[in-house]
Amino acid sequence: DGGRRAGRTAYHFQPAKNWQNDPNGPMYYNGMYHLFYQYNPHGALWGVGNLSWGHSVSGDLVNWAALDTALDPTSPFDANGCWSASATILPGGTPAILYTGIDANGEQVQNVAFPRDPADPLLRRWDKPGYNPVIPLPADVPGDKFRDPSTAWLGRDGLWRVAVSAEVRGVASTLVYRSADFLRWERAPAAAPLHASRAAGMVECPDLFPVKEEGDDGDGQGLDASASGAGVRHVLKLSVMDTLQDHYMVGRYDDAADAFVPAEPERGDDVRGWRRLDYGHVYASKTFFDARGSRRVLWAWANESDSQADDVAKGWSGTFPRKLWLDEDGKQLRQWPVEEIETLRRKRVVLHRGTALATGGMNEIVGVAGSQADVEVAFKVSSLAGAEALDPNWLLDPQKLCGEKGASVPGGVGPFGLIVMASSDLREHTAVFFRAIYRYHGRYKLLMCTDLTRSSTRAGVYKPPYGGFVDVDVEEHETINLRTLIDHSVVESFGADGRMCITARVYPEHAETSNSHMFVFNNGTGTVEVSKLEAWELAAATVNSVGGNDSLV
Ligand code: FRU
Repeated sequence: DGGRRAGRTAYHFQPAKNWQNDPNGPMYYNGMYHLFYQYNPHGALWGVGNLSWGHSVSGDLVNWAALDTALDPTSPFDANGCWSASATILPGGTPAILYTGIDANGEQVQNVAFPRDPADPLLRRWDKPGYNPVIPLPADVPGDKFRDPSTAWLGRDGLWRVAVSAEVRGVASTLVYRSADFLRWERAPAAAPLHASRAAGMVECPDLFPVKEEGDDGDGQGLDASASGAGVRHVLKLSVMDTLQDHYMVGRYDDAADAFVPAEPERGDDVRGWRRLDYGHVYASKTFFDARGSRRVLWAWANESDSQADDVAKGWSGTFPRKLWLDEDGKQLRQWPVEEIETLRRKRVVLHRGTALATGGMNEIVGVAGSQADVEVAFKVSSLAGAEALDPNWLLDPQKLCGEKGASVPGGVGPFGLIVMASSDLREHTAVFFRAIYRYHGRYKLLMCTDLTRSSTRAGVYKPPYGGFVDVDVEEHETINLRTLIDHSVVESFGADGRMCITARVYPEHAETSNSHMFVFNNGTGTVEVSKLEAWELAAATVNSVGGNDSLV
């Protein structure tokens, strides 16, 4: 892959160059997928005033062609930036965008934009009507805290609704606006906003979407934004600016009151206590209903925390798609890579079923490039009896626990998992692993970690341990599976059938000059059996004209 800079991904979405943050307005329209994104056309850093909407199209969610920017900060109502937002497919099938503009006074307002030519399959030009903004800044909201409209949905009364983030008298709030015509919007008269979090600081990028209560396994059962009624639950996802973490809660949404009642009130009304979408480093996620695959697809920004100098040197940042659905417990989401990724699968290696990994066991996965791979592995645990006993303090900070009890710290049941992006001498490696812990009364907890602390020998880079407890009854699952996508600087893992995701960015030094290795390992005292291991080398996708096969438009 001539000239690819070390760390540049081969199949995760990124612009050819320059700064990208949030995914915006993803949609499926007339046979094409569209992804817009927060983009600085002039450089590799984010800056107030320099945000446009980048725009790419795809036939398969894998290969992408870059088009001209769709929205640029050229009008009085967005002169200081076109910020995040969503697309809505209107009845009749044409799309509309409702986005945040930073106006000439530096205040956040909501604007509409429509395709100039809905018959253009690429939707290249977008008009911003002169009557914008359609939602001016409300009197009780500061000028820098009113943004990120969601996809709109229709209530049973025939009115549109849209969720907007705002800080109202110091409280992080998710407001609802209603409209009969998509142009004149009024704040819903509800006594309370859709959500209010007193202590959370600014909360951004709201996403409210319906999921099927039963029967959705991620394919063919997804629901359009306006679905409601029997058998439907809603998910409210919010992005917490202070921690750069996305949280969600499943609940019931009532369109008469525009109220959201969480299914787990015991998690409190501070969004930071809600479930996490990913235990690694992703932010500002957004879903859309994919009418072609009849599924709900999530995009998120795989953000980073290294220095600005590093950002400039890399010149880009990236994003990825996943499908998601409601677990049968009615509380957690399950996530899994969209199946289109399989079109990139090339060389495949399989480990003999039933390979036993005794204490200290470490088998290299040979035959596929370790920097561009898709690995599925299942571990069969014959007995949980030897699991370490819980120290209650461990429950408080599982991420810290993942650091203290890393992959090389022996345990009872586990740690077992994958070592990826490893240098030949193993001085650099990233470990993705599980550890079962005995709680009480025959109940166990399953810890899942991605430990970056040895991912790079370079000093001063961001390489924390990540992790959390998987919400699964381990006692009832004798097999624990793990799927990990490795894409140069991305290690994206799905544990226990997609119940827990950990996305990490790693920048090992060895990758500049040599190959990366992958292993399956066990450092528990009990033997585990690898009941399945399939690894594929993935071809490079064409992403905005960089990379593989030029197969698009
Ligand atoms: C989230 C965010 C949004 C805002 C955009 C600006 O990452 O801060 O709230 O609209 O980025 O680029």
